[in-house]
Amino acid sequence: MKFDKYILITGGAGFIGSHLLRKFVINYKNYFIVNVDNLTYASNYNSIEDLESSLNYKFIKGDISDRIFIQNIFSNYKIDYVIHLAAESHVDNSIENPLVFVKTNILGTINLLDQARLNWPKDSSKHLFYAISTDEVFGSLGKTGNFHEGSPYQPKSPYSASKASADHFIRAYGNTYNLPYIISNCSNNYGPNQHLEKLIPLTINNIVNNKHVPIYGDGKAVRDWIFVMDHVDAIDTIFHHGNVGENYNVGSNKEIKNIDLVKLICSILDKRLKLNNSELLIKYVQDRPGHDLRYAIDASKIMNELNWKPRTKFNKGLEITIDWYIKKLVTKI
Ligand SMILES: NC(=O)c1ccc[n+]([C@@H]2O[C@H](COP(=O)([O-])OP(=O)(O)OC[C@H]3O[C@@H](n4cnc5c(N)ncnc54)[C@H](O)[C@@H]3O)[C@@H](O)[C@H]2O)c1
Repeated sequence: MKFDKYILITGGAGFIGSHLLRKFVINYKNYFIVNVDNLTYASNYNSIEDLESSLNYKFIKGDISDRIFIQNIFSNYKIDYVIHLAAESHVDNSIENPLVFVKTNILGTINLLDQARLNWPKDSSKHLFYAISTDEVFGSLGKTGNFHEGSPYQPKSPYSASKASADHFIRAYGNTYNLPYIISNCSNNYGPNQHLEKLIPLTINNIVNNKHVPIYGDGKAVRDWIFVMDHVDAIDTIFHHGNVGENYNVGSNKEIKNIDLVKLICSILDKRLKLNNSELLIKYVQDRPGHDLRYAIDASKIMNELNWKPRTKFNKGLEITIDWYIKKLVTKI
């Protein structure tokens, strides 16, 4: 069977990757999708297992930083597009163990870039290396202002430094080898399938299990949140309509202080589970070293040029997320 595109999606067993993979495998039967993921602790293979029966899909377990492995993927599957999500993604872990972040996020990305460079012709309008990056590469904002596409890179944690470094290599490959690339930098995602170590699932899990909910510092750090399916739609739009050599900021303009977010989750869970004031579980703990104060994304470029906009209102998305975790954690479905 011949397909129109042969796409390597990396990290398809992770939080964002699992939703993206499902959308692409189901909606684009004319594409063949190879999902490479080495199934770290952060992955959730169960969430994508049912896709195995699809004729346009192949899962291959492996490490993106393994040169021979990636070389074989490119040659065996004639890969002509890459959507790169595989990463170590938890800031706290990057503070504990930065070298793992260097290996996966930097070396892994360069390894993929190099195979794209070696396998794709110089004049390659039918190829694309599309990397999913983060707004954290821009560093931290004061009380006002937004990150836009031209904001300088000022990463402040080993995680964001590793993502920034990967982005620099992608641009360098674009400039030096003419490799067709796009980068998008997205704000904090939330939704079903996220690992329990991240703020929203951690808060839900702890409340459900009647455990303390830790809040870093004074809880006044501000994050800009987007529902994961809106991010997936943005990736789909950028993949199909984005301009090569560009970067796009993706966000849904929903800034909220961590403490306010946690209190909102408490109030929704109190109603859903008939709890008696779960806010009492909140416990302030020592701040994360170098904790960024505020992120906020200006997404007007993708909205104006590619006609994308987020569709999910924050409260609605949060309720969908909470209900999904209640089902998973309480009724164990
Ligand atoms: N979650 C967010 O809020 C957010 C926001 C902006 C950008 N991003 C970026 O989006 C991407 C996906 O994020 P996520 O939240 O889904 O991450 P995640 O941690 O949930 O998933 C990452 C996936 O990558 C896989 N992986 C890790 N190391 C690998 C390796 N060496 N080889 C192969 N696979 C490997 C893991 O097994 C996992 O399935 C990342 O690149 C991240 O930097 C995430």
